[in-house]
Amino acid sequence: EDYIMARLVVNSDRTKGHINKEIYGHFSEHLGRCIYEGIWVGKDSKIPNTDGIRNDVIEALRKMKLPVLRWPGGCFADEYHWKDGIGPKENRKKMVNTNWGGVVEDNSFGTHEFMRLCELTGAEPYINGNVGSGTVQEMQEWVEYMTFDGESPMSRLRAENGHPAPWKVKYFGVGNESWGCGGNMTPEYYSNEFRRYGVFCRNYGDNKLYKIACGANASDYNWTEVVMKNAAHAMDGISLHYYSLPTGSWTGSKGASTGFDANEWITLLSRTLFMEELITKHSTIMDKYDPDKRIGLIVDEWGTWYDVEPGTNPGFLYQQNTLRDALVAAINLNIFNSHCDRVKMANLAQLVNVLQAPILTEGAKMLLTPTYHVLEMYSVHQDAELVDIDFENEDYSFNGITIPKYSVSASKNASGELNITLANLSHRASGRLSCELRGEKYTVVTARILTADELDAHNTFDNPEAVKPSSYDGFALRGSRLTGTIPAKSVLVITLK
Ligand code: AHR
Repeated sequence: EDYIMARLVVNSDRTKGHINKEIYGHFSEHLGRCIYEGIWVGKDSKIPNTDGIRNDVIEALRKMKLPVLRWPGGCFADEYHWKDGIGPKENRKKMVNTNWGGVVEDNSFGTHEFMRLCELTGAEPYINGNVGSGTVQEMQEWVEYMTFDGESPMSRLRAENGHPAPWKVKYFGVGNESWGCGGNMTPEYYSNEFRRYGVFCRNYGDNKLYKIACGANASDYNWTEVVMKNAAHAMDGISLHYYSLPTGSWTGSKGASTGFDANEWITLLSRTLFMEELITKHSTIMDKYDPDKRIGLIVDEWGTWYDVEPGTNPGFLYQQNTLRDALVAAINLNIFNSHCDRVKMANLAQLVNVLQAPILTEGAKMLLTPTYHVLEMYSVHQDAELVDIDFENEDYSFNGITIPKYSVSASKNASGELNITLANLSHRASGRLSCELRGEKYTVVTARILTADELDAHNTFDNPEAVKPSSYDGFALRGSRLTGTIPAKSVLVITLK
């Protein structure tokens, strides 16, 4: 039987770096029903809320251990004027959300509401500033408004709006997709803009900003090269955006979220695995200008992108979320863990009702998607130490495509627990694992699994718990050897104590 075993060696005495909890971060844009309906219902809503923010969503986000949240965009960030979103609601300007369906944005959710959301969920705020259509002064004043503790025009305005004390803001993005919706700039031009805007994003008091430059669209390596060359000294992080599309086409059909076949399953997973190459290649360029790895690669948009659900507004990017999305999340998160020396934050697009959302809502109802469950299962890696592994992977082939059968990473937390997250990408073949635990001694193994019968198994508002994790007793520990079965199309977290 030995020959069909996947062989894993876990060297728990050899740690390889810190897995920032921010790798498990999220993104919430003024797009479709993400902020409005999904998070914000307003204080007068019948839906139970705290200061206008849905209680069911707050609770789910706490359970998932939401570490950091990016806002207000996305493309929306470069059209957003923050002063329109403060002060008495009745005076707030209404604007057109040109990027996302041309709907009216009434600015009822603004800086104060976002900061309250962060307080209620325990998330760090990650603010994305407007370079594309905003001024340097506007960006400077936003930072002052949020973080200055003293007498100034902006701190006085903040106090007038009911918040005398400053907030703490660490993560600050200087523009979004400046090569596209954020201003259609060249990397040479953007580098200069980043340097100029960056200067005026001040550190007030003991608030220290972590400034994130707009990075590349997927494999645009020249963007990273030029921006690093011209502006590395002025940044703390540089972003990367990469989405998984079943067809790979932005212009034609992207593929459906449900009702797909095994061919679309493996195609999407193979496109997701491209993240490994992207991170490796962008990191190599960064190494040239930042050999000490001071600058973080911030994957602040990742996830699946399908055709919208039939009958929904094409500008709202609403899609279902299946077991396949769970595998996509498992793969990406294992990749980010493995590159934690360079990847300091990642943000799934997007938090509620948009793209690969962990949470979907419909009126007063809320459901947790398969992606949510992976994030909750993987939360054991937050702020843990990456552990060195050796793995003899197997191949998974179908319809002319061959990819690795498993995706894996392991970490050790402060209390000495070892957690291995392991996904079986195959849509049909289970497998056997033989794992040698080197280093620390463990005596107890427990595991949880997320799987389902159908490839496109998903949760609906009528059946919200069709896909959810359960405990799994398919592993046995004898001395330092762990063996067990890894069911097809499954995501596992194995805990050793
Ligand atoms: O997440 C949706 C959009 O994708 C974001 O607004 C933009 O940054 C990216 O193109």
